[in-house]
Amino acid sequence: MLQHFDLIIRNATIIDGVRTPRFEGDIAISGERIAAIGRLDDARAEREIDASGQVAAPGFIDSHTHDDRYLRSNPDMAPKVSQGVTTVIAGNCGISLAPLVAANPPSPLDLIDDTGAYRFPYFADFMTDLAANPAATNAACMVGHTTLRVAAMDRLDRAATASEAAHMASMADEALRAGAIGLSTGTYYPPAAHATTEEIITAARPLKAHGGRYVTHMRNEDDHIIAAMNEAFRIGREVGVPVIISHHKVVGVRNYGRSEETLALLAEARRAQDVCVDCYPYIASSTMLRADRIPLSDRIIITWSKPLPQYVGRELADIAGEMGVSQEEAVARLRPAGAIYFSMKEEDVQRILRFEDTMVGSDGIPHDIKPHPRLWGTFPRVLGHYSRDLKLFPLETAVHKMTGLTAAKFGLKDRGVLKAGAFADITIFDAAKIGDGATFEEPTQPARGIESVMVNGTPVWEGGKATGARPGKLLRNNA
Ligand code: ZN
Ligand code: CU
Repeated sequence: MLQHFDLIIRNATIIDGVRTPRFEGDIAISGERIAAIGRLDDARAEREIDASGQVAAPGFIDSHTHDDRYLRSNPDMAPKVSQGVTTVIAGNCGISLAPLVAANPPSPLDLIDDTGAYRFPYFADFMTDLAANPAATNAACMVGHTTLRVAAMDRLDRAATASEAAHMASMADEALRAGAIGLSTGTYYPPAAHATTEEIITAARPLKAHGGRYVTHMRNEDDHIIAAMNEAFRIGREVGVPVIISHHKVVGVRNYGRSEETLALLAEARRAQDVCVDCYPYIASSTMLRADRIPLSDRIIITWSKPLPQYVGRELADIAGEMGVSQEEAVARLRPAGAIYFSMKEEDVQRILRFEDTMVGSDGIPHDIKPHPRLWGTFPRVLGHYSRDLKLFPLETAVHKMTGLTAAKFGLKDRGVLKAGAFADITIFDAAKIGDGATFEEPTQPARGIESVMVNGTPVWEGGKATGARPGKLLRNNA
């Protein structure tokens, strides 16, 4: 009997996302899902793609994004689909667009918006809005503790009272009911830095009943990183949910090499509880411009500046020199602003990427004028630079860290794996050519070697450009 499908990808080297050794085969798609994988010589389809010499992998899942508003403002999602990403996890670092109504949100909430997008009194309103306006990629969203704090408190320079923390918990519960897949914190940032561990435990309490996870940009990633990790583990244990440490890194010259310590602690913790990390493949970080980062960094580059946009893309030391002032004074004049900080050691980045339970996540900041290259380059950089060129791990492992592992850790059903019945989120790439085009000088260059990308069976990137299709789905908790 001649089987008939919508689409067949022929002769691909299949890397399935769950670390099965690569094999040659065909992939048949019917509607939104994969119908069959194997030798499908007798099957026919409306459209056939010859993928000889190419790898077919599950579409990549960006485990750490700030795409909450970008999904609506730039639904083509070009920085993501151009590197093979088919699903983004939004709402990281304590920052979510809902539930909050605010015209001038405090930093760092302005990282994703200062144009009036904080307009959803309930998380369900935000979910409805996203579901009604699909983007090219799928999206799963978390609720941010900093957003809850801003909504619940009259001032942010203190710990929440018991009733304020209870209010945050009830808002978190509403968000989880509406489909949020977890709660994130960003206690590194001033509006959340005064939160006590107890406040966070109270706010995060509803996670367990909804199968959510606790995801944290920790209070500290430099001298006091061990205490910060122990706080995160404790919150996970007391709430009874998995812990994900965001963009794991060790910052500051005097802490170089300490990933040995942090990974040993993680390995020990994961014997008792579910913990993992995400990581981006660069030795530079990017966030708001802050003077306290000067002594921790080798170089600082400005990504945006409200009062002095003419300095975007330039080095802080040069700007201070030109102004004839200290770097601290230059920071004060440039703020509000964002920056890239060269403050990590390559060996630490590699050791963290290699760690068994490390997922790849871009932490891209899509609204920056001159963004960190991780926004456009993260996934091809891991596949090309780290896996193929430096041989940090085999391609099967690299793909797993951006697909199957991530889907499992975030509870994304039928994603992150190539098998019959799974959604047809598929990235076809040339393993010999794949690489990041984005650099610190030219950060918005697309990747090399991404041949085609489909989301729920529909192509979103072909022939080096976006197709304009927007087949992305909103992935809700437990749905
Ligand atoms: Zn963060
Ligand atoms: Cu982040």
